[in-house]
Parts: sequence; structure tokens; C-alpha cells
Amino acid sequence: MSENEFQLGRQLFYDPILSKDQTISCASCHLQANSFTHTDHELSHGIGGIIGKRNSLALMNLAWNSSFMWDGGVNHIELQALAPISSENEMGSSLNEVVAKLNASKKYKALYFNSYKDSLVTGQKTLLALTQFTVMLNSYNSKYDKYIIDKGGDLFTQQEKNGLKIFRENCASCHTEPLFTNNEFRNNGLVVDPFLNDYGRMQITNKSEDSLKFKVPTLRNIQFTPPYMHDGRFESLKEVISHYKLGIVHSKTLAKELNSNLNLSHKEEVDLLVFLRTLTDYEFLFNDRFSYPF
Ligand code: HEC
Ligand code: HEC
Repeated sequence: MSENEFQLGRQLFYDPILSKDQTISCASCHLQANSFTHTDHELSHGIGGIIGKRNSLALMNLAWNSSFMWDGGVNHIELQALAPISSENEMGSSLNEVVAKLNASKKYKALYFNSYKDSLVTGQKTLLALTQFTVMLNSYNSKYDKYIIDKGGDLFTQQEKNGLKIFRENCASCHTEPLFTNNEFRNNGLVVDPFLNDYGRMQITNKSEDSLKFKVPTLRNIQFTPPYMHDGRFESLKEVISHYKLGIVHSKTLAKELNSNLNLSHKEEVDLLVFLRTLTDYEFLFNDRFSYPF
């Protein structure tokens, strides 16, 4: 890691030069105030207003991911940026086209020289620099973290403590602390959207036992990352809890933990929602190092 490379990656992340018609940057779909996802629509919007097939993912603590994307279709972070750059629904360009544009830019030639002691822009250096930025997007200063470091002192209200207990009993087998994901692919009982026909992990592995399985997403900063699920079908955390209480669709691949409906009283549901808000890390959401650099 080097500071110059990180700063180069930051410039690239926020620069629409990476898209075919210079309208879309990584940050168009990954906004810092929303923990680097987008929140105003369920499916991502790319160049020319083309609507993609999935809800954008929040970017944080990526070094601990064992794979990327909702279906785990990318297994190395350095290759990850290739997908949006070349996807017709996203940036509609190609690595070659991006490299040519960057090589024609005096500003970037100088930035690449500062990072690599050679001003020639290459695809490999570009992907590496983007990775240096995205891999530093680490969130670990939420109220929850402070409570855990304090070994369960008085930082949590009684309601938040109850919420944590309910969370550990019902959610943590998949949304496992401290990352709030177990990095697995599971079917959490969502009904298939007949327009999207998205069967998740099965599209990558071709195995029927992976039908309807999706990445277990982290719940850090979850208060600020709506809409929820791979297709953004739920707008609020209340709707998500209602899904686990009443909406689970039973099928062959449904996760066994979800065979019986979540059984919470109204008070317990509120406690759980209050706990989920303790996962918000304002220091991360407002960290100047990660903000728009221009
Ligand atoms: C048009 C919107 C859009 C743009 C532009 C975009 N992304 Fe994404 N990003 C998404 C969506 C949607 C997903 C989830 C895709 C999927 O699962 O199929 C995603 C997933 C990711 C992931 C995986 C996160 C995880 O936890 O698995 C990373 C990393 C990422 N994007 C980084 C980038 C970078 C770097 C750029 C710029 C080069 C970029 N994105 C540009 C919409 C976008
Ligand atoms: C059996 C594993 C499992 C359990 C148990 C589980 N989840 Fe999930 N959760 C998932 C999976 C998988 C997804 C993503 C599903 C998708 O988008 O297709 C998900 C998605 C979510 C999301 C949306 C996150 C986002 O970024 O879009 C929230 C919020 C959530 N779960 C909260 C909870 C809560 C609260 C509980 C406990 C009441 C819980 N989950 C229990 C597997 C699980």
C-alpha cells in the first residue's frame, strides 16, 4: 500500500472518465453517505439511464470478503472493477478504452508517475490503484464496536442490549459478528421476481443446490443503505423484519434456520431495529479521506 496509489485510486473512483460517455463514475452507484451504495432506486442505473439487474452493494471491509457480487461471480478484488467498467448496463466501456483516455490525460500521467515511477498508464496499474482505494474503506467505529471494546459496559441502553440478544439468537448464524456476514451464500426465502428471474449463486456454479442463494450481506451501516436485498425490494428495515416474520417462501434450498418463522413481539421487533442502528459508523460515513477529491 502507498499513499500516492491510494490517492490515485480515489481520483479514479470519483472520475466519470471510466465510463464510455463520461457520465458515470464508481461513486454514481457507490455514495459515501450511504456506506458506498446507492439509495434512491432499487436497481442500479448506468450510462444512458440503462437499468441494471441488481441493487448496488455497500462497499466496506472488502479485504475480508472471500468473493464479490451478490452471486460471488468475482473472486478477486483486483479484477472486480473490470465488471462495472465493461458492463453495458453500467459504464459501457472497456479497460483498453479507459487506459487510452487516461494515457491522453496530463493529470493522470503525472499521478501514475507519482505512484509507479513510470507515467505509462496500464490496465493492471489502474485496477491496482482502484483496489488500493476500495480496500481501505474499512468501517469499525460504530456504537456497537465501542460497546464491544468496552466489554459490554454502559454504552448500550437496555433496549439496545435486548436487541443485540435477539439478534444473536435469530440473525447471527448468517450475519455473524464482527463483520455481520459469514461470507456464505444462502437462500433467505425471498419470492422470485418473475421479471428478473435471478437465481443467484446457481448462475455461477450451475448447481441446482445453489438455486436462489445469494451472498449474506454485511449489516454494518444498514440504517443508511436502503433499499434492501439483491433487487432492492424492501425500502425499510421494518419491511425486512416483516419478511423474516411472515414472508419466508419455503423451497428446497431455503436455509434451515428459516424453516420456522421469526417469532417476535412488537416490543422485541422495536428492540431489534434499535440495535441495528448501533451498527452505524459516522466516522466512516463522514471520513474526509474517502470523500470526493476534486
Ligand atoms: C451502474 C452502477 C455501478 C457502477 C458505475 C459501479 N458499480 Fe460497483 N456494484 C454495482 C452493483 C449493482 C453491484 C452488485 C452487482 C452484482 O451482484 O451483480 C456492485 C458491486 C460492487 C462490488 C462488490 C462488493 C461486494 O461486497 O461484493 C465492488 C467492490 C464494486 N462494486 C466496486 C465498484 C468500482 C471500483 C466501480 C468503478 C470502477 C464500480 N463498482 C462501479 C453497481 C455499480
Ligand atoms: C439463513 C441465513 C440468514 C439469517 C438467519 C438471516 N439473514 Fe438476513 N440475509 C441473508 C441473505 C442471504 C440475505 C441477502 C438475500 C438476497 O438479497 O437475496 C440477507 C439480507 C438481509 C438484509 C438486507 C441487507 C442489504 O444490504 O440489502 C437485512 C437488513 C437482513 N438480512 C437482516 C436480517 C435480520 C435482522 C435477521 C434476523 C432476524 C436476519 N437477516 C437473518 C441471510 C440470513
